[in-house]
Amino acid sequence: MPVKNRFAELLPEITEWRRDIHENPELLFDLPRTSAKVAGLLRDFGCDEVVEGMAGTGVVGVIRGKTDTAGRVIGLRADMDALPIIEATGLDYASKTPGKMHACGHDGHTAMLLGAAKYLAETRQFDGTAVVIFQPAEEGGGGGRVMVEEGLMERFGIHEVYGMHNSPGIPLGTFAIRPGPMMAAADQFEVVVTGKGGHAAKPHEGIDTTLVASHIVVALQQIASRNVDPLKQVVVSVCTFRTESEAHNVIPQKVLLRGTVRTLEAEVRDYVEGRFRAVVEGIAAAHGATTEIKYERGYPVTLNAPDNTDYAVAVAHSVSGSVDTSVAPLMGGEDFSYMLNARPGAYIFLGNGDTASLHHPAYNFDDNAIPFGSSWYAGMIEARMPAA
Ligand code: NI
Repeated sequence: MPVKNRFAELLPEITEWRRDIHENPELLFDLPRTSAKVAGLLRDFGCDEVVEGMAGTGVVGVIRGKTDTAGRVIGLRADMDALPIIEATGLDYASKTPGKMHACGHDGHTAMLLGAAKYLAETRQFDGTAVVIFQPAEEGGGGGRVMVEEGLMERFGIHEVYGMHNSPGIPLGTFAIRPGPMMAAADQFEVVVTGKGGHAAKPHEGIDTTLVASHIVVALQQIASRNVDPLKQVVVSVCTFRTESEAHNVIPQKVLLRGTVRTLEAEVRDYVEGRFRAVVEGIAAAHGATTEIKYERGYPVTLNAPDNTDYAVAVAHSVSGSVDTSVAPLMGGEDFSYMLNARPGAYIFLGNGDTASLHHPAYNFDDNAIPFGSSWYAGMIEARMPAA
């Protein structure tokens, strides 16, 4: 089962869908045009059921195979949302909306899954049911989580679920995957440090909040370097450091810190949160300052089940012959993790070649990846539910 010939024929059509979505990017849950286009195409393909409105603008299509002796149901997922970035590709199909851009290739994911849905609805060479899932709000908002909470898995009786993301830096047509953690848990924090403001020439009469917050920023880096086992992965990044005052002679009363914590294992995630609170509170207390900490759990670890990873590798191998199974996990977050928490499955990367990185204003999805991606999606259905 190499790249399916049908996808070579469908490539111009799928490319047209992709470029149309690229030209009309929408953000988060607010995807009226994109979801209407997806639902309309799924109906044109002859899907047995098309459900709109899950997580607001999510779309789900159901395609029944020629037979259904085993009663199996496999879910395939793509994300549809764009990013708040000003596009700098200069493409003739570049974003028509300044400040919104498909800079993560979700236009490509949506188009590739649409291509697979068209093929599967035409051929139906499988025993069971394929469910194609198009979710909003992957780039913040947790559209995947909302669909799971709204009963996606139960409503459609899904047993396994598979997802894909394009990956710049990996050769076009090469797949990359690993069993276990694939993407990180992404938590975020906000800390307000309160000292005692005053005249900058009389530091002894105040509590220098700027200095206390600086000590906290430095000490937080010791969680990764001194607390967590060096063989485990953790990232602590303080990204915002804002004092109340912009003056050169005022010790501010408050400093705001914001940032993110990334981990790959549940135990490490819990441990780092505990260390984070202890370090922030302890450093502040040592200086006579106080803190308010907001620590929010975000997307969980994207965890590939070992058996399902093997299935994904086998199909990827048959599609392209090029699969890297020793790829390192990424410390980015991905809300397909909620679907993988709900059902066993796997998440795979597909090479986008030597392009600008994801979320870069010059990034573009490579349409030559479409036959590989669509073949993999469709191949997962045919391989996991072979025709009776
Ligand atoms: Ni993405």
